[in-house]
Amino acid sequence: MIRYENGSFLLSTPNTSYVMQVNRDGYLGHLYYGKRLDRPLVQDFLRSEEIPSPSVKPGEKVSFLDNFPFEYPASGVGDFRENCLEISDSEQVFGFEPLYKGYIIKKGKPALKDLPASFGHDCETLIITLEDNVRGVELDLGYCVFNDCDMITRWNVVKNLSEKDIYLEKALTLCMDMELEGFSVIRETGVWAREHQAFFTQIQPGVVATESSRGESGHEAAPFIGLVSSNATNETGEAYGFSFVWSGSFLGKVWTNSFGLSRLVMGVNPNNFRWKLKAGDEFTMPEVIMTYSSEGLGKMSRNFHDFIREHIIRSVWKDRQRPVLVNNWEATYLDFDDKKLIEILRTASKAGLDMLVIDDGWFRESKVEPEGGLGDWVPVKSKFPDGFTPVVEEAKKLNIKLGLWFEPEMISIDSDLYRAHPEYALSFPGRVPALCRNQLMLDFSNPDVLDTIYEKIATQIRESHFSYIKWDMNRPICDAYSRYLPADQQGEIFFRHVLGVYKIQEKLLMEFPELLIENCSSGGARFDCGMLYYSPQIWTSDDMDPVERLSICEGTELIYPVSTMGAHVCKNQNDISGRLVSFDTRGLMAIAGTFGYELDISKLSEEDLKKMPAQIRLRRELDKLINRGEYYRLSSFDRRGYRIPGSIAKSYDCMEIVSRDGSEAAVWYMKPLYEPDSRGSRIKLKGLVCSADYDVTVITDADSYFNPDTALLNKRAISGEELMNAGLCLPVIHGDYTGVLILIR
Ligand code: GLA
Repeated sequence: MIRYENGSFLLSTPNTSYVMQVNRDGYLGHLYYGKRLDRPLVQDFLRSEEIPSPSVKPGEKVSFLDNFPFEYPASGVGDFRENCLEISDSEQVFGFEPLYKGYIIKKGKPALKDLPASFGHDCETLIITLEDNVRGVELDLGYCVFNDCDMITRWNVVKNLSEKDIYLEKALTLCMDMELEGFSVIRETGVWAREHQAFFTQIQPGVVATESSRGESGHEAAPFIGLVSSNATNETGEAYGFSFVWSGSFLGKVWTNSFGLSRLVMGVNPNNFRWKLKAGDEFTMPEVIMTYSSEGLGKMSRNFHDFIREHIIRSVWKDRQRPVLVNNWEATYLDFDDKKLIEILRTASKAGLDMLVIDDGWFRESKVEPEGGLGDWVPVKSKFPDGFTPVVEEAKKLNIKLGLWFEPEMISIDSDLYRAHPEYALSFPGRVPALCRNQLMLDFSNPDVLDTIYEKIATQIRESHFSYIKWDMNRPICDAYSRYLPADQQGEIFFRHVLGVYKIQEKLLMEFPELLIENCSSGGARFDCGMLYYSPQIWTSDDMDPVERLSICEGTELIYPVSTMGAHVCKNQNDISGRLVSFDTRGLMAIAGTFGYELDISKLSEEDLKKMPAQIRLRRELDKLINRGEYYRLSSFDRRGYRIPGSIAKSYDCMEIVSRDGSEAAVWYMKPLYEPDSRGSRIKLKGLVCSADYDVTVITDADSYFNPDTALLNKRAISGEELMNAGLCLPVIHGDYTGVLILIR
């Protein structure tokens, strides 16, 4: 619901409200974001009569604006905090004064030009126009308020109505000026194989920031920033979350001044960004989705999950059972050929798998080093003398679908494409370009490059009927010089690169609407809402060790639904950690995700092979629950000390997914290290029906789901009331790295 009354805007979702007001000088101020209000605010939260030093009267621009809670601050007019918009022109004149012009309210949600964006029907859009007449520039602030969930989204459009070209030096999407005493900022950090580690920093005067300048969202930070009140837990206290619908460099920052005013901003990273806005043109800033919860962090996550599932993911696969696949990467790395794949296919068929994904290596001569072939995208003769035909025919015979790996944004120096078009690679004239995995970045600002790469991918899909592609991205952007763009548009490369990625994925989905895309970037370096608009699942991490995955998954689940998280059963011993974990535990833990195998199944022991059909069947039976259920974090296994301030470190990890009607739930539990002479954990479940009776089965392997007599615990008729209040008494679980799945029905 959106209401406008006496210069105030009141935006309300079922449980939250957001209030803005225009002040007497025409500046748009931010008054409130929090628990739902049903009546307009009456006090002067803009503090119009206060006189901050060194001013001598109220409203004197320089100090007044420096403390004014701006809805959207711009540079150069007296607010010296972090601003969102910086405009210059050919004379290097800066500054934009954002003065209120008017508003419109309309039903539904507009699409954003060339950008991924949320969508929906049961929602309303507010556009507030700010203008700077001196510069001839207008700014439309876009807000969409959803009625079915607690989510408000924001984006902006800058319009150059003047007669001369201007440059956007900075164009951040969101500003929130708030008073956040005692709050902590949540950021996610990480590296390859250790993505999405959530950590909390208490707010003090100064800056707490999270960012990527790599041209992708990156391992080091996720395009998300959150806030939690000092008393927050997973179930209580206040939490705010802001997630960016963008897959490139970004900035999220909380800047707090000495009066305790905090300014939170989020948007495209101003590093390596300068956009030429020709006279008459407009520029759309990517969307931020934001939510507020008065029921702790858990509700914030559930708000994100619901919204992402309903209003971000478009794929036809969203609610369908996704294929249970085997991926050959860790099975073979680059050393494979058609015969090896046929061997894997035959075992896959016996085990009941749906798909084989052919990973990196099919287009390269090398069996060891990732070098050569990127950009050509043809099966290499030495590994595929008859192309994909023998594999395609065998797969058809066995009724198994095929998927193929690409890294479309890259080019190898040793490729026919590079030999024919060295100008397609980004590189500074006169400097040897930096290589990473022996590869260079393609210039995705050049439409010929996009057309060429599109055709190469589409040709493989058309010829061999691939029904899935894994779109990988294994190096950041540097040497960002385009031979296609003119001199004064080189600052657009990073932004245009991401637009190019979106454009190709969009075109693929137009030509192949049934295609399942799984995005990936050296594991989970591009896990964001932008990519989820094109692919319903993303590879979470190259680290598949179930113990390592605990914190990776917890951080990812803070924002994204479990059903979007790529999870595979890895080999024993794990290649990254060296850890040995039983096939049963690896299987049960990977079920909390899209599920597949990433080991040489043709070499599995008879015993493990026999277990695969039960694991696959169990995953299929839980599909609806995992796809549609609600997520609760019951305990965090905290090794690194990144946890909600004041919370207690636990020796076990526990996560629950419960159906919306409370009729069934699945709970994943793992205590990584066995403690001698310890007692079983007691866990309090969530979301069940108090008066209902449940059967509770605790299983250490998928087989015992189908044969509950062998389960660790098999108890009938425990009430929902007991399970949620007194808790579930788990038996002692022996051994290190043992996970159990608890099924409640
Ligand atoms: C990245 C991906 C892996 C695999 C390799 C192939 O690291 O995350 O899953 O596809 O590339 O080179």
